[in-house]
Amino acid sequence: MDHVLTTERLILRPVTVHDHAELMAHWTGADVRRFLFDGAVLSPAEITGAIEDSVRDFAAGGYGLWLIRGKEAADLVGAAGLRPLEQLGLEVFYSLEPGAWGKGYATEAAGAVVEHALGPLGLPEVLAEVDEGNAASVAVVERLGMAPFAVVPGLLGPMTRYRRTR
Ligand SMILES: CC(C)(COP(=O)(O)OP(=O)(O)OC[C@H]1O[C@@H](n2cnc3c(N)ncnc32)[C@H](O)[C@@H]1OP(=O)(O)O)[C@@H](O)C(=O)NCCC(=O)NCCS
Repeated sequence: MDHVLTTERLILRPVTVHDHAELMAHWTGADVRRFLFDGAVLSPAEITGAIEDSVRDFAAGGYGLWLIRGKEAADLVGAAGLRPLEQLGLEVFYSLEPGAWGKGYATEAAGAVVEHALGPLGLPEVLAEVDEGNAASVAVVERLGMAPFAVVPGLLGPMTRYRRTR
């Protein structure tokens, strides 16, 4: 299984070592890292680690980190993935290049990831954890039909946990 996901406008491909520079540039952008990594600038070694984790998780479990590109152009649109949230299950996470905000791409890509998790992967539920101050991301999980079930403290303030069940 190649784990490539396609939507109406987007192609999501599992990240590879060849994507290191693009992922680094994307994830270290100020507007992207603010809520995704509590503002931290990931090092090249941390990017390498994230790619290696993804390659391992796709091989073992069919999930990891996908890079999002448009069907019409090769430019990077963003990234979306599934990763463990403590011992609770897998959470969906996503980010777009700022130039790609406001077009529905995050909802479209994250929706495909959620469908992958609840469909082919056969998970009973998918989770998400969103900073309450991240209004754009709260709107994404609401459009995905996820329901809040807990609030936990985070570095930037309260974070709401959401779930969508199969
Ligand atoms: C979170 C993030 C991905 C949300 O991006 P976004 O562009 O607001 O979300 P979507 O791609 O789903 O786009 C939705 C917007 O596109 C609009 N839109 C335009 N054309 C559209 C179309 N064809 N289909 C659907 N929506 C469309 C929607 O109306 C909505 O606009 P609104 O915000 O004014 O209501 C983005 O802010 C980001 O990358 N942030 C940094 C990383 C981050 O915080 N990630 C989340 C960590 S939990």
